Amino acid sequence: MTKLTSSVNGHPRAASEPIWEYAPAPEARNIVKIQPQYGLFINGQFVEPQSGCYFPTLSPSSEERLSEVAWAGAEDVNSAVQAARNAYESVWRKMPGKERAKYLFRIARLLQERSREFAVLESLDGGKPIRESRDVDIPLAAAHFFYYAGWADKLEYAFQGRRPEPLGVAGQIIPWNFPLLMASWKIAPALACGNTVVLKPAETTPLTALLLCEIFQQADLPPGVVNMITGDGETGAHLVNHPDVDKIAFTGSTEVGKRIQRSIAGSRKKLTLELGGKAANVIFEDAALDQAVEGIVNGIYFNQGHVCCAGSRLLVEESVYEVVKRKLKRRIELLRVGDPLDKNTDIGAINSKAQWEKIVALTQTGVEEGATLHQSSCVLPERGYWFRPTFFTEVAVSHTIAREEIFGPVLAVLSFRTPEEAAQLANNTRYGLSAGVWTEKGSKYLAFASRLKAGVVWCNTYNKFDPASPFGGYKESGFGREGGVHGLSAYTRVG
Ligand code: NAI
Ligand code: MG
Repeated sequence: MTKLTSSVNGHPRAASEPIWEYAPAPEARNIVKIQPQYGLFINGQFVEPQSGCYFPTLSPSSEERLSEVAWAGAEDVNSAVQAARNAYESVWRKMPGKERAKYLFRIARLLQERSREFAVLESLDGGKPIRESRDVDIPLAAAHFFYYAGWADKLEYAFQGRRPEPLGVAGQIIPWNFPLLMASWKIAPALACGNTVVLKPAETTPLTALLLCEIFQQADLPPGVVNMITGDGETGAHLVNHPDVDKIAFTGSTEVGKRIQRSIAGSRKKLTLELGGKAANVIFEDAALDQAVEGIVNGIYFNQGHVCCAGSRLLVEESVYEVVKRKLKRRIELLRVGDPLDKNTDIGAINSKAQWEKIVALTQTGVEEGATLHQSSCVLPERGYWFRPTFFTEVAVSHTIAREEIFGPVLAVLSFRTPEEAAQLANNTRYGLSAGVWTEKGSKYLAFASRLKAGVVWCNTYNKFDPASPFGGYKESGFGREGGVHGLSAYTRVG
């Protein structure tokens, strides 16, 4: 270990607070073999796009071009939907649940076996720290396949006395913040219930979804059961509007979610939307404050704040406001921002230039509207897209940073005097995905949590996920639940 006061090993430091730095511990990159070009995964094979178009995917931490992937146009989307329909009619809907389960178990085990490869690729393509992709994204992705494998032959127990039927072909569109996890989260319940899938990954993070297709091949998943079409919003719109798709599952921005809802209104397509959030993390004066500050840090700086359920508003009881502010200020100085492949990194790269620009602009708005900016003084790497851990105090509820989803490592701090005021502030948002409560008193927590209009409420912890637990929002955060037994309803028709 080296004592340092400035930038070293890609983990730059402020001079203000001498600390003991870890030696660099980068994960070996050569475990992944990235091909120079990827086709579309249709009917069990990688094929060239009929569009003839490809687009690059970068590593946001170095701006290096990692590969190029196919862009699926209308004809390609059509081929993928046809493959999914054929697989549905000829194989998958007829297969007994216990046989479908075997494929899902096999996929889960293969994901575990190749977990290091997936973790490195996820961090390279998306910029998130390896510690998160290794300890959160990949294990949870495997856990979703394990969990829904368990349901595949027990669906009648989930819907007692009724007959659950699959919907048919599910079109799934996912964002860039948890690429493999979102793919698994959507594919596993769809397959368990007997549907087939056409999935579109986000433009900036297609590589782990494409590697997952190799796993489908390894697992001998019948061709066409899952098809992967890379592309942009236009590709997604073709999928949404395709007449032979029975279900759309979308995770992403509220704006696109609303557009999708409008475009399929009046059709027979079933829809689940998981959209934005502006979650409140509420600290009462009796909370264990150091633990709470760790939870706040995890809630907003985890995955660079690229989390729909991020605790992006902090509500602190007035009597402990100053002490929490002081602790938070000190804590963000200690966060390591840098190389996503280093195992000691806390905060990686912002996923794309566009997202970085959005975070910069909203932060600037916070300053212009009169809030007080606090930022870590760390030195940022020269190449790539980086943003310091940031929080604002002297925030008014009318400020843009207190209302808009920033989707970056930027926290708005407000204070409250009574639980009534805290509940009113927490619910004062057009979103309602999640919330956090910090108190040592169980009765207080239970009473307070029941007043919050949020799909998930964490107590004395934050950002904890489990495949057995349903996830989804209120209001403009969307509708429908994913995960748990509730997640089966999104992929079944119950007779
Ligand atoms: P986006 O909503 O545009 O992208 C999400 C997915 O939807 C991508 O796969 C994209 O290709 C696809 N898509 C875009 N337009 C579409 C259309 N018309 N029809 C069908 N599919 C379409 O999100 P974007 O632009 O990447 O991020 C913008 C903001 O959205 C972020 O700053 C953040 O605030 C929010 N967001 C929320 C997420 C969540 O988990 N709820 C995830 C990603 C972004
Ligand atoms: Mg990328």
